Amino acid sequence: MNLKNLAVPECCLVIGAGSAIGQAILEQLSGAGCRHLLTAGRGEGEVSDHCRLNLTSSDSVAVLSTFLKQKRMEGIVPSWCFHCSGILHDGEYFPEKGLSSIKGEWLMKSMEVNVLSHVHAAQAVSSVISPTHPIRWASLSAMVGSIADNRVGGWHSYRMSKAALNMFIRGLDIEWRRKHRENRVVAIHPGATESELSRPFRQGLPPGRPFSAELTAQRMIQIMANLQEEQSGHLLHWDGSPLPF
Ligand SMILES: NC(=O)c1ccc[n+]([C@@H]2O[C@H](COP(=O)([O-])OP(=O)(O)OC[C@H]3O[C@@H](n4cnc5c(N)ncnc54)[C@H](OP(=O)(O)O)[C@@H]3O)[C@@H](O)[C@H]2O)c1
Repeated sequence: MNLKNLAVPECCLVIGAGSAIGQAILEQLSGAGCRHLLTAGRGEGEVSDHCRLNLTSSDSVAVLSTFLKQKRMEGIVPSWCFHCSGILHDGEYFPEKGLSSIKGEWLMKSMEVNVLSHVHAAQAVSSVISPTHPIRWASLSAMVGSIADNRVGGWHSYRMSKAALNMFIRGLDIEWRRKHRENRVVAIHPGATESELSRPFRQGLPPGRPFSAELTAQRMIQIMANLQEEQSGHLLHWDGSPLPF
């Protein structure tokens, strides 16, 4: 996929920058000529202007907001934001097979990482949104967060938290488009992609899956570059088509 002919803005922000897909988005944006790459996440930034923070904590709103305001004083304001944070399993918890395995602690952690981290980041970005500078926001979500599409059950905490993220995106779109008609807000399902998150679930995938992080990043950037008004506020498939909530 060639991104050379895409109009990539001067400045982009990648949140949850330590993620495999986030890293690949950074590489692709850099290759496509994006001059100012801003990042936020728990790790150290390597190729970018980085804000180190944990977005599950409410303090992170002020930290990211201060960082973005400082950048704005330097004339650097992101036009695109990709939020890549998400959790499906950790050393202790794995997606639930059914009702009896739902644990409150894991459900709350899933909500913190999959929803609250996106809320906090949007609150910080909101502080630098201006009526003259439109912004495009993409939260990486998941098709399994679609209520209409759930035909097999299980994975309760991940599904519930991604469904909540999708609802947040819908509300954020309404709010931000009142600020500026050209603002765009979407949730995107990247498809099964090589990463730590997908590592335990590679068996049984159709041929050609998981996608490389590079290919997924190219698709995310292509969606962002071609985002139309009618797509805003929706959950999009990695090819840009709408998915049911
Ligand atoms: N890979 C797939 O097959 C797939 C499929 C559907 C949807 N997605 C979605 O795509 C997004 C990116 O996933 P990925 O595959 O690139 O995953 P990944 O490499 O495992 O990265 C997940 C990122 O989420 C953040 N995160 C994880 N645990 C956290 C915690 N306890 N507190 C705060 N932040 C935490 C981290 O960002 P920092 O370290 O930068 O803070 C981490 O790098 C996720 O939202 C995921 O749900 C992925």
